[in-house]
Amino acid sequence: MSAPLRHATFSLMSYSRYRFIKAATLERRTNLYLWNTKLSSLDLSCYLKSYRFYCQCHRYLLRSNKINKSKVAQLHGNNRNNLSTGACTPRYVIGIETSCDDTGAAVVDYHGNIIGEALNSQTRIHVEMGGIIPIIARDLHKQNITNVVDEAIKNAKLSYQDIEAIAVTTEPGLALSLFIGVNHAKMLARKYRKPVIPIHHMEAHALTVRMVERVEFPYLVLLVSGGHCLLALAQDVNKFLLLGRSLDDSPGDAFDKTARQMKLKNLKECAGLSGGAAVELMAKTGNPKSFQFPGVLSQNRDCNFSFSGLKFHAKSLILQEELKQGIDGGNVLPNVGDICASFQDGIVKHLVHRIRRGLLYTELKQLLSEENKTLVVSGGVASNMYIRQEIEKLCQHFNCRLVCPPPKLCTDNGIMIAWNGIEKLKREIDLVQVNDFDEIDLKPRSPLGIDMTEDVIRANIKVRGKLSV
Ligand code: KG4
Ligand code: ZN
Repeated sequence: MSAPLRHATFSLMSYSRYRFIKAATLERRTNLYLWNTKLSSLDLSCYLKSYRFYCQCHRYLLRSNKINKSKVAQLHGNNRNNLSTGACTPRYVIGIETSCDDTGAAVVDYHGNIIGEALNSQTRIHVEMGGIIPIIARDLHKQNITNVVDEAIKNAKLSYQDIEAIAVTTEPGLALSLFIGVNHAKMLARKYRKPVIPIHHMEAHALTVRMVERVEFPYLVLLVSGGHCLLALAQDVNKFLLLGRSLDDSPGDAFDKTARQMKLKNLKECAGLSGGAAVELMAKTGNPKSFQFPGVLSQNRDCNFSFSGLKFHAKSLILQEELKQGIDGGNVLPNVGDICASFQDGIVKHLVHRIRRGLLYTELKQLLSEENKTLVVSGGVASNMYIRQEIEKLCQHFNCRLVCPPPKLCTDNGIMIAWNGIEKLKREIDLVQVNDFDEIDLKPRSPLGIDMTEDVIRANIKVRGKLSV
């Protein structure tokens, strides 16, 4: 053991508490290099009273890449129980999501580490039923909620007492589904005397990215999911400007209905996949130029979206092709790959057109920093790699950074709800204490942020067809 390390260890022994020593010793065993180089240069007394130091070591280890990340996670997990009580308690929030067809729960810590999670997806059942039936979704949430939330806590190796607050989706979503999650959150909060943090589902989607990437406000965000399609400017955790929204269906719905029309679930490679994922998979086998899809809302100088026309066009095309090729019953068209690729291309062209106007609007109104322009694309449909790739081309043209959360975080889950809870906890906003639970409203319909769609129209921004023009 080198002299600085001995000195550091001695200093720690003299000043710190037992719990801190355990964490420090563990990290020291993990990486002597860290202690030789870091501790000797740190002013120990600044850190000794606080758990913050342990977290810094942890982050430093991850950054320095001297040891493998899973080892750190494992050590962190093993040691968590030693650290979860006492003066330097780490802060955890559990998030509960039941706004639509997924029962999700997760525990996330102050630094955005996912400590434990559990998810019960109803996708397979709803695909079989031919769409989401609210009563069935509610019953499935009811069946699964206790297990899912308990499992997240169990996976985190924590108990409910260790949780600082319970974040839960209260808006927007299916009323019957939202009710199950909120009720469960309130029940737990009453039992363990914890505050509840109400979460807007779309805000959570928009903020998830900050858990995994350094993305500062303000940034532009496109949310494309089964329930929504919107373009907004995120200015703060609870401050959004809405630039555009769907006037009819969502892109996820267009994907799902078109997949159903093509009977993709009868293909074994598509079994169990959502409609969008099935279309993406089959599109890889086809040519996007095989069929022409019409331009959408090209005359409207706004950032709104519409997918009903594309959906209708796809439906007519499929029926026509089936007739032409004599396909009936549960059989699938042999050129389904071409239809999928062309339809997917039609959707992406529309998305790119609207984002383009959104970027021009933010330029005009100086709403984004020129040096650090960022577009975040999230929501279930953002899992689509073809869509990401086409949006990336647009971003390069605008010198804008494109950031997409990993696919796992794009779909509905408890993680995004817990992280939104942490973001609110950090700013001490929206914490509802047990006695004020009456204040918690369920809002099945709830637009995101301040509506700027009229202002976008007033700006009268023309978008040309080709990027290079
Ligand atoms: O965000 P999400 O999980 O749920 C909400 O709607 O809130 O999004 C689900 C939607 C479904 O419509 C599904 O078909 C679509 O996202 N989706 C995709 C892909 N994966 C899921 N759409 C296109 N390409 C994909 N790879
Ligand atoms: Zn969602």
